[in-house]
Amino acid sequence: MSALSFSITPNPNPVSPETREERLKNLGFGRLFTEHMVQIRYVEGVGWHDARVEPYQSISLDPAASVFHYGQAIFEGFKAFSQEGGGVATFRPDANARRFQSSAERLAMPSLPEDVFVQAADLLIQQDQHWVPRRDGESLYLRPLMIATEAALGVRPAREYLFLLIASPSGAYFPKGVRPVSVWISKNYVRAAPGGTGDTKCAGNYAASLVAQRQANLAGCDQVVWLDAVKRTDVEEMGGMNLFFVYGSGKSARLVTPRLTGSLLPGITRDSLLTLAADLGYATEEGTITVDDWRRGVDRGEITEVFACGTAAVITPVGEVKSDSGSFLIHGGETGPIAAELRQRLLDIQYGRRPDEHGWVHRVI
Ligand code: PLP
Ligand code: COI
Repeated sequence: MSALSFSITPNPNPVSPETREERLKNLGFGRLFTEHMVQIRYVEGVGWHDARVEPYQSISLDPAASVFHYGQAIFEGFKAFSQEGGGVATFRPDANARRFQSSAERLAMPSLPEDVFVQAADLLIQQDQHWVPRRDGESLYLRPLMIATEAALGVRPAREYLFLLIASPSGAYFPKGVRPVSVWISKNYVRAAPGGTGDTKCAGNYAASLVAQRQANLAGCDQVVWLDAVKRTDVEEMGGMNLFFVYGSGKSARLVTPRLTGSLLPGITRDSLLTLAADLGYATEEGTITVDDWRRGVDRGEITEVFACGTAAVITPVGEVKSDSGSFLIHGGETGPIAAELRQRLLDIQYGRRPDEHGWVHRVI
């Protein structure tokens, strides 16, 4: 049981059911927010306190708050799904809570207990339950974050922090839905180096990625693929997603994903798919794939599909790969059968259409 008790202040000006239904039409990703949020404060020597579910609102911070200067900011992303038979469930929120703790540790921030993290999400979802979308492909995206709020310019870990949790009714992450994406292999920028913060969800990783994402867009691509920082040969991950490479086809296919070297994010979708692929009878492997292996494997017909996976985008096939040394298509630029099968299997569990054999579904309502 959590040692924190939350005060709950309902929004005094709730939107009408008609307006809400109108806003829930045409969902994109992360543009619409619900009517409540969670705040929890931390002060060194006092600990976590003042836990609140309250109306969604702006926050006010001192301009000297250290998050603005030295960037102690971490976040998470997970989803709540309307269940087939009614009710709402989140997917593996405990895993997100633990990754939030390891991000906090790397950034010298305080650890939020796992049960408080999960409880905060449960309370927010219960308060905003009418904002959980009900159509297939839609969900309530939950975005927990923690920032350093102490007003102090000395370079050291802050002594005060704010945990926030907001929720966004969301549809497909990519505007073109589940159509395959094109990727740009970034050779002049790196996302993360050994000993750095690549295996955490800290805001700075994303800030550092944006110029390469823009370069990818200028090259006509949807996403950037990151290589290792030292040799610049090994594929690490893609934008905000992990990657899987399918060797062979049918039931003898083998799924390979880059091993966790410390500079890529240990994705919860990646971890779930390693299990689900094995359930479906595929061999799985965490290994090293170089850009040359990728190009040669596709040329020789050994690599038959490549797909990206993450909370926001679920499974998104990679249809085309470009770099300064040329381009090639994968699976004719179309979605392959194994990506489609795994996507269906994962979504069926998340929406409660299949039994949850791995204890991943956390019932909220
Ligand atoms: N890699 C990066 C850089 C990400 O931001 C994400 C998204 O959270 C992922 C991978 C996929 O992780 P998950 O499956 O836990 O969402
Ligand atoms: C997610 O998949 O939840 C992410 O955090 C990726 C991106 C939106 C940052």
